[in-house]
Parts: sequence; structure tokens; C-alpha cells
Amino acid sequence: MKAVSIAIDGPAGAGKSTIAKRVAKELGYIYIDTGAMYRALGYSLIKDGVNLDDEAKVVENCRGKELKIEYRDGLQHVIVNDEDVTGMIRTDEVGSAASKISAYKEVRALLVSIQQKMAEKESVVMDGRDIGSVVLPNATLKIYLTASVEERAKRRYAEYMEKGQECDLEQIKKDIEERDHRDMTRENSPLVCVPDAHIIDSSFLNIDQVCAEMFKLVETVKS
Ligand code: DC
Repeated sequence: MKAVSIAIDGPAGAGKSTIAKRVAKELGYIYIDTGAMYRALGYSLIKDGVNLDDEAKVVENCRGKELKIEYRDGLQHVIVNDEDVTGMIRTDEVGSAASKISAYKEVRALLVSIQQKMAEKESVVMDGRDIGSVVLPNATLKIYLTASVEERAKRRYAEYMEKGQECDLEQIKKDIEERDHRDMTRENSPLVCVPDAHIIDSSFLNIDQVCAEMFKLVETVKS
């Protein structure tokens, strides 16, 4: 049977990974978190002390690394040169490093080719910034999941508070705006809403409501 692919794109903090994970589980597809791949390289570059503004050095360093994706108990693990970095990549510092290096064409080419190979073999739900536009332009279903900057900042703030981490709402908002700007205006594969994507604005929807919208759309491509 032909592999089915669901592409979910959108800005940071719109809820892509939560929704993608749930949808993948429900459909029995593999969830591929492409942001985690950029983060894994970002983390590894920071560890190696590479200047992230030096494109040539970043590309050279990334080319020398072996990046593997493995699944354990249904969860995606990212392995760089035999080190499982999955637990190290969820910080703002690594997120911002990922955003920086994702602007480099050759870094993107390395990761896009891994992502495309993964989706050839199996049915997937893949989330990121360029999935519907570049990685899987022929995806079975394309979703653009977004939410207002205010709402995304509030959600991130609540996450930090829950973990007992000090944070400032205005600073979080500023960081999100900066990341949106960089991801949307870069020259190589910027975040765009492709014309054939279905837009879901989650500003006033909870997770269950977004999933319900998603399943309605999945039904339309299944039938
Ligand atoms: O989704 P995330 O926050 O984990 O992604 C981290 C950064 O990686 C994001 O700011 C931009 C980049 N990214 C990308 O350019 N293309 C993707 N498909 C996924 C992430």
C-alpha cells in the first residue's frame, strides 16, 4: 500500500508537536519531529564550540556528523555520532541555535534528504516549517497550524511556570517574534503557508478541539 503523509507546518509554539503526536498515534503512523533534527545539530554545534554565524564552519561540522533517528516505545530519539541527545535539546538556547543554522542551505539539504527517505517507506505525520513546501510537496494532507503571538507566549509562560522555571512573559513574546521573523524571512525554505494547506488557528481552541479539526480533515483524504 502507498505510504500516506500528513504535513504539519507552522510557527514555534502553535502546538504542532502535541497535535502531530496524537494524530500519529491515533492513525498508527510514525511521528517525525523535524525540528528535533535541527535542534540536535544545534546542540552538537554548541557543544563543539562552533561559531553559529560562520556558515562554512557550521556546514563542515554538520557534514562530519552522523545523525540517526530511532523509535523507542513509540518515541522519537535523535542520535548524533552515537550520542542520544533527545533529552538535551528542549532549551531556548538550543531552539535559537536550531533556528540560526536552519537558515543555511546545505544544513537543510542534509536533513531534508533524511526526512524524505523516512517518509518513502512508511506512513508519517511530519511537522516542521518546510514540510508541505519542500520536504513533502505531494503530501496526502497539508496543515498550517498557527496561533497568535500573544497566545503562544502565554502557553510557553504557563509551561515554564509549571516546571517552576523563572520567566518573563514580555521576554518570551519577544523571543517568539524574533524566531518567527527569522524562520519566515530566511532565504532558504522560509516558513510559508502553501496554497493547498488547510489553516487551523489554535488561538481559541484547546488540544482536543484542534485534534477534532484534524481528524475531520483526515477523513476527507481517506474517503
Ligand atoms: O519546531 P522547533 O521549535 O523544534 O524547531 C526549531 C527550529 O528549527 C525552528 O526555529 C526552525 C528550524 N526548523 C526548520 O527550519 N525546518 C523544520 N522543518 C523544522 C525546524
